[in-house]
Amino acid sequence: MLWIVRRATDRDKPGLNDGAGSKSPSHQRRLADSRYTGSTPYHWGRIFGLADLKKSIVITGASSGLGAGMAREFAARGYDLGLCARRTERLEALRDELTQAHGGRVELLALDVNDHPRVFTVFREFQQRFGTLDRVIVNAGVGEGRRLGTGHFELNKRTAETNYVAALAQVEAAMEIFREQKRGHLVLISSMSAMRGLPRHLTNYAATKAALAHLGEGLRAELLGSQIKVSTLYPGYIRTEMNEGAKKLPFEVSEAVGSRALAHAIEREPATACVPGWPWTLLGLLMRVLPLRVVAKLN
Ligand SMILES: NC(=O)c1ccc[n+]([C@@H]2O[C@H](COP(=O)([O-])OP(=O)(O)OC[C@H]3O[C@@H](n4cnc5c(N)ncnc54)[C@H](OP(=O)(O)O)[C@@H]3O)[C@@H](O)[C@H]2O)c1
Repeated sequence: MLWIVRRATDRDKPGLNDGAGSKSPSHQRRLADSRYTGSTPYHWGRIFGLADLKKSIVITGASSGLGAGMAREFAARGYDLGLCARRTERLEALRDELTQAHGGRVELLALDVNDHPRVFTVFREFQQRFGTLDRVIVNAGVGEGRRLGTGHFELNKRTAETNYVAALAQVEAAMEIFREQKRGHLVLISSMSAMRGLPRHLTNYAATKAALAHLGEGLRAELLGSQIKVSTLYPGYIRTEMNEGAKKLPFEVSEAVGSRALAHAIEREPATACVPGWPWTLLGLLMRVLPLRVVAKLN
């Protein structure tokens, strides 16, 4: 029951669009949701002619779930957004929603993060369009996993490639740009499952998220005192397509609540943060010291 529950997916087929797009009820609800509107730095910037000072954020995996949710949060805060994923029709529907609600700039590019050269091209293209990249959120990920040694190597490998190797490509591409700019904020979306090695179908997924978190810490060590910041976020259970169909998850929050908590945390530019802070910060501390026989019961 912990962290990921496999959803039936068609997303492994590049370019596939499930047609949910702007016609879905949740999309219509969000359009009407006043939480995504209001006074923002961008609006004030426009009033005082400072719109050029707006910051730009690239979010991978922005076609659904937390990526789309964070895009809504940051659009409402007045950022320029560079959004990418494979399901481009979803991205287009999101751009329409955000520009209608906030009038900001939203650029889209199709990206399969497992196409590594394309990751570099897309990030560079966003930088050229915006002039500079202020923040990159490495969010694209999959939640698939099977017990090791049960004949599912290909599936587990694909999860490892998407969640870690492709994340490494995104980090490399972002860091190239940040090193040139001598500033930038790299955000890594890890998971509470990274806190410990976890049993059964979670083993590989948790390992990929732990690897990503270590990548972040290593970079932070190297970049101490510089204007390049690296934040690792550890989300708890947030109800998205990734855990669609799962029974009630412990301490779960909605996509909107989880995305807002992530955006708040990211704005603080912390080294690490469990999200939402309550109860996951405490649970994170506990998880670090749990005896293995208790960890064995987590699933
Ligand atoms: N929801 C939770 O409870 C939870 C908890 C901890 C951590 N997380 C992490 O949060 C991140 C977002 O997950 P979510 O819950 O928002 O799930 P989601 O709704 O399934 O979203 C996953 C996103 O990743 C993108 N993606 C997957 N494979 C990709 C690929 N090969 N190339 C490009 N984009 C790809 C998807 O876009 P396309 O399919 O359109 O390409 C989609 O936009 C993941 O890294 C996940 O591990 C989630």
